[in-house]
Order: sequence, then structure tokens, then C-alpha cells
Amino acid sequence: MDKLVIEGGIKLKGEVTISGAKNAVLPILAATLLTDDACIIKGVPDLRDTNTMIKILRSLGKDADLENGIVSVSSLKKTNCVADYKLVSTMRASFCVLGPLLGKFKKAKVSLPGGCVIGVRPVDLHLKGIRALGTEVNVESGYVIAKAKELKGSHIYLGGVYGSSVLATDNVMMAAVLASGKTVIESAACEPEVEDLAEFLIKMGAKIKGHGTPIIEIEGVRHLHGASHTIIPDRIEAGTMMLAALITRGNILIKNVFYKHLGALIDRLEEAGALMTKTENTIHMRYRGQLKAININTLPYPGFPTDMQAQMMSLMSVTPGISVITEKIYPDRFMHVAELNRMDARIQREGPHAIVEGREELSGAPVMASDLRASACLVLAGLAAKGKTSISRIYHLERGYENMEEKLEKLGAKIWREKE
Ligand code: EPZ
Repeated sequence: MDKLVIEGGIKLKGEVTISGAKNAVLPILAATLLTDDACIIKGVPDLRDTNTMIKILRSLGKDADLENGIVSVSSLKKTNCVADYKLVSTMRASFCVLGPLLGKFKKAKVSLPGGCVIGVRPVDLHLKGIRALGTEVNVESGYVIAKAKELKGSHIYLGGVYGSSVLATDNVMMAAVLASGKTVIESAACEPEVEDLAEFLIKMGAKIKGHGTPIIEIEGVRHLHGASHTIIPDRIEAGTMMLAALITRGNILIKNVFYKHLGALIDRLEEAGALMTKTENTIHMRYRGQLKAININTLPYPGFPTDMQAQMMSLMSVTPGISVITEKIYPDRFMHVAELNRMDARIQREGPHAIVEGREELSGAPVMASDLRASACLVLAGLAAKGKTSISRIYHLERGYENMEEKLEKLGAKIWREKE
């Protein structure tokens, strides 16, 4: 296995172009199961997770290839409707093949996704939604076995203990587009990636209104045809690069970003004293002097994204003052706290809160990545720390950031790979 080594203390300067959004492309690739026609998906990042989803599509009978950011999907042979454990267990998002398989074939056998370090990751809302559409659901030996004589539109409240669910909204939407009659999803997830999925489904002939708001209305149709679609930029990668500029006291022009997708992050950074200039699809982040500590609560979109919580913790670790970070989506999403403390951060965990006492500077150290966004947080900390940081298990980083080290190197970072 490789580890990433960073010599910290260098101000990052220059331009970076953001890749397509991982959390949009995964459900959109799954949505190609809803038609036998060919589909072309552009702006696809070359990531572990996108390649895992391509493998799953192939295991379900599709022909799919990623070349120069473009995935072309077509139907090879009769689709089988079994998504097996060995693939689903490597990537939880594969559970979003359930909805399209049910929508198109009225049956599906999908392995229950494992939990992961950020939380138990239940699927009760997914099952509640498809049952409401008339599906018979059994859970046997780690598989969800679903079948329906006919899918009928229904009014479904999909809010859970922690608010709306992104992939549950995706799954229910992809089952409902081919159901008979009207479906209303109440307390739907409003994330831009859910909106992007809906846009792709509409291009395939689906009738959807209200996507991007808490109430989505779907009028079932009989058939969906192939379509081509370009994935929206990855707002979490963009946010991570914005923090890279601030934590290294640098100056980065971030291209291919929709700032309207980053309202909560921009609001908190401006509250902390950061100044940035924005156009339709660029954000120029320049360090303009010491920031002040702020508090963060993660919430469903448009609230502060949980996927930026760990990265923000790195920035607050070197910002004078006390910052309280409260994780309301995944209360256990704090594996990065111990690793940051190894770098001389001063962070105390109290249940769903992390109390961060900002330090003058962090010191480089050997640390271990535990999940995708924790690995991004450790990269940011390493870029700012004095001395050398080595991050092991960086396959976590490769799941969701395309060519991260090349992008950082081009911005002046001293970053390289070594064998573990
Ligand atoms: C999506 O996961 C993202 N993944 C996650 O990004 C992201 O952190 C999460 O949404 C929240 O924004 C993809 O889109 C592939 P949820 P998802 O269902 O859909 C609870 C990353 O780093 N819940 O919106 O699986 C759940 O436990 C990843 O890119 C239920 O209770 O998350 C959590 O507390 C990590 N029952 C909350 O809802 C359910 O049936 C939100 O989870 C489903 C979820």
C-alpha cells in the first residue's frame, strides 16, 4: 500500500480545476439501469468509487467504460438483478442500484451495505420508500430481496432521525419514475447531486418537479430512453481546495465550481474573516490575514455539509481561539480527531461535539487515514504543518479525489508517494 508524504509550510499558489462530483456520478451511473438504450455520461472523475460503480454495472449485464472522463453505458445482455456482497461491501453507494433495478425489472437482490467508520449507515428510509410504492421487501442473509407485481405512485414522507437522506431520495426517485401514477417525496434531500440525478432522469424522459427542494413530485411514465449528461462540479473538492488556500496562507484560483452550491461554507468562511472573489464558475481564495475561530454545525443541504466537517477542523486547528464543531448527521464522524492531535492539534471530543483550541502551528507526524474526508483533512493539516507528515492508507483519498497530489503539486506543494 502507498502512503502520501507532505513537506508542510509552503504557501499554495496558482489555479486548480475541479473534477466532476463523485456523489452525483454514482447515482447517475446507477440510473442507466433504467433503460436498455445507450447513455453517455461526461465529466466523470477517475476515482476508485466511479470504477467500482462501473464494475457493478458490468456485473448487472451492462457494458460500461470510462475513457477521458466519459462513460458510455449500453446493454450487453439480459440484466441480472443481483448486486453481490463483494462489490457492494466495498462501496456503500452501490446500494443505489436498488431503485433503478426495481423501477425497470420490478425485482432486485442487493447486498446490505456495511457500516463504516463514520457511522452505522442504516437503510430503513430506503426500504420504507420502496415499500410505499408497493414493493414486497425481505432481508435475508445480508441481502435486501425486493419484488413488486406493479409499482404504484404514493405520497412518501422520507425524513429520518437525522433529517433527509440523499441516497434514499435517489433510490425512491429512481423506482418511482417508472411506477404508475404520481409519487410525492416529502422531506426529500435537496443536495445539488440529487438535483443533478433528477436532471439526468428528465433527459431520459422522466417527469419530475421540485427536485432540489424538500418536496419532489414524480409522474410515472412507461419507458425511459438513453440520454447524455455532464456531471456537475464536485462542491466538496472545491471546498477542500478553498481551505487549502487558507490553511497554507496561499492564493488559489479555483475553476469549474458553482459557488451557489457552497453557500453554507462561504458564509462560515466569511464569518471567520476570509475574503474571496466569485464569478459564475470560479472562486478566487486569497489569504488576507489571521482568521478567527468560528462554530460549525453540520446539517442537510443547504446547511453546512458533513463532508466538509473534517477539513474545517484542520483549518480551525491552526486558527487562534476556540471553535466548537457539532456533527449532526453522523455523530461519530470524528476518527480524524486523534490523528490531528498526533500533529499537536488540541481537540477534545464531547459526544457529537469537538472542541478545537487553535494552535500557532501543527507539527508533521506519521498519521493514518480512516475514511475519505478524514484523509482530506490530514492532507490539509500536513500542508500547513511544520516538517514532514506521512499519511498511510491513502486508498481512502483515492476514493473521492481525482489526482489530488498532482493538483496540489501544481500549486507548489511538496507532496509525494512512498511505499508503506
Ligand atoms: C450521502 O450518503 C453521501 N454519499 C455522503 O458522502 C454524505 O456524507 C451523506 O450523503 C450526507 O450528506 C453519496 O452521496 C454517495 P444519508 P448517504 O442517507 O446518502 C441517516 C462522502 O464522503 N439515514 O443522506 O448514505 C444516516 O445514518 C460520503 O462523499 C438513516 O437514518 O447519507 C445519516 O445519519 C460520506 N436511514 C443521515 O441519515 C436511512 O435509511 C444522512 O445520511 C438512510 C440514512
